[in-house]
Order: sequence, then structure tokens, then C-alpha cells
Amino acid sequence: MPGMDSNPYRVKIAPSILSADFARLGEQVAAAERGGADAIHVDVMDGRFVPNITIGPLVVEAVRRVTALPLHVHLMIEEPARYVQDFIGAGADMLVVHLEGNWTLHRLIESIREAGARPGLALNPSTSLSLVDEILPYVDLVLVMTVDPGFGGQKFIPTMYDKVRRLRQMALSLGLAELDVEVDGGVNATTARSLTEAGANVLVAGAAVFAAGRPVEEAIATLRAAATGLPAVDSTRDSD
Ligand code: DX5
Ligand code: ZN
Repeated sequence: MPGMDSNPYRVKIAPSILSADFARLGEQVAAAERGGADAIHVDVMDGRFVPNITIGPLVVEAVRRVTALPLHVHLMIEEPARYVQDFIGAGADMLVVHLEGNWTLHRLIESIREAGARPGLALNPSTSLSLVDEILPYVDLVLVMTVDPGFGGQKFIPTMYDKVRRLRQMALSLGLAELDVEVDGGVNATTARSLTEAGANVLVAGAAVFAAGRPVEEAIATLRAAATGLPAVDSTRDSD
């Protein structure tokens, strides 16, 4: 039926501050909040797990002070267990750790929950879903990387639509209807709709929100409209 949303989940948008103007980070996060963002995505990179170096707990703490939105911290670092307490202490609501290189995931995931945050699991594009079924019941979210991690503004890998579809099916067949399926990398108004149709319900977007050449609020409204197949509504006008 036209206009009917085939994805039964409410689509959530998590802008990645990696593409924000760091000299005006507080303002940019506030604009994302006004624009109807559901969470703020923070990309932590150590120059080892990925080639880039970005953000540490200090910046998470600063973002925590300027927003009430949940902070999702995506750890692209070696030995993430060493930093669980630091990032949760800085105000992270969710810690997303990669499967790659972490072979004692039950311990790592449990330590995140015990420290008071929600655990998420990230998968690189080339990582097979056959590696995740045992850990799936223990996480709140699976982040499907739709580019190789390391940088914002990269090109979406088209075979990831089908990976998202298979992950959603796997979750449903395991009775995990509440699992959040998140996509990260090259998400924009062109790729968003097929991603939500495939079963993604959380969209991370960096360049499409903070480097779109238009106000952040407008960029989020455009992305949400594309993702849901509904007309764009500027959420900033609702409060007037
Ligand atoms: C990439 C990061 C992403 C990145 C997405 O390694 O995990 O969160 O910021 O950026 P865009 O949306 O620009 O591809
Ligand atoms: Zn990310």
C-alpha cells in the first residue's frame, strides 16, 4: 500500500559528530537536538584499530554537558575493555564495541552492562553474520558498518542492504524482536529508504547531517523523510 511503512520500527536518527565543526561542537549538537535527533553518535578511533585518531572521554564529557540526548559511543579501538569505565564515567549511555579482535565478548558486554550502560555490537562490512548468533541475545543493538570504519564521508557498500535484511531475519528467528539494527557509513537521503526497508531502525549519519551544506535541522528532517517515505517536516517549527 503506498505510503505504508514496511518497517514496523520507529526510525531513529543518530548524527555522528565526526563531521561536525569541532570549534562549534556545542551549537552543532544543540541544532541536532532541535532537529529531532534521537541520539548523538560519537566515533572513538585510536589510530590502531583504524588508521584515524579522533575523540576521547574528554569530548564525550563535554557533549554530555550540552545535551540530554542519549550518547552512543562507537569504540573503534584496540582493547576496548580498558576504557569501558572511562567512557561511561564521561556520560556514555551506550557503548558499541566491535566483534573484530574481541574474542571474549560475553565478558566485555557484561562489563558494559554492569557499569551501567547499554551494550551494542559493531560488525565490519566483511564480517560474516555467522559469527554473531551466539552473542545476539546479550546485546541491545547491532551496528552494521556499511563502509570500512575509519573516516566519515565514505561511499556506501551496496551489498550491505542484504546483510541488514539477513540480520533482521536472524534476530526475529531468535525471538529478538526488540533488537536495534543500526547502520553506519554512507547513510544519506539516497540510501536511507532501502536500509529501513531492509530492517534497519537506527541510522547513523555524519556527512549527511553536518556537512550537507544546509542547516543541521533541515538535513535531519530530509533524512527522516527519506527514511520513512513521508514528507519532510521541520521539527524546529513545532515548538513555536
Ligand atoms: C566511520 C564512522 C561513522 C562515520 C559515518 O568509521 O563509524 O560513524 O562518522 O560518517 P558518514 O555518515 O559521513 O559516512
Ligand atoms: Zn560510527
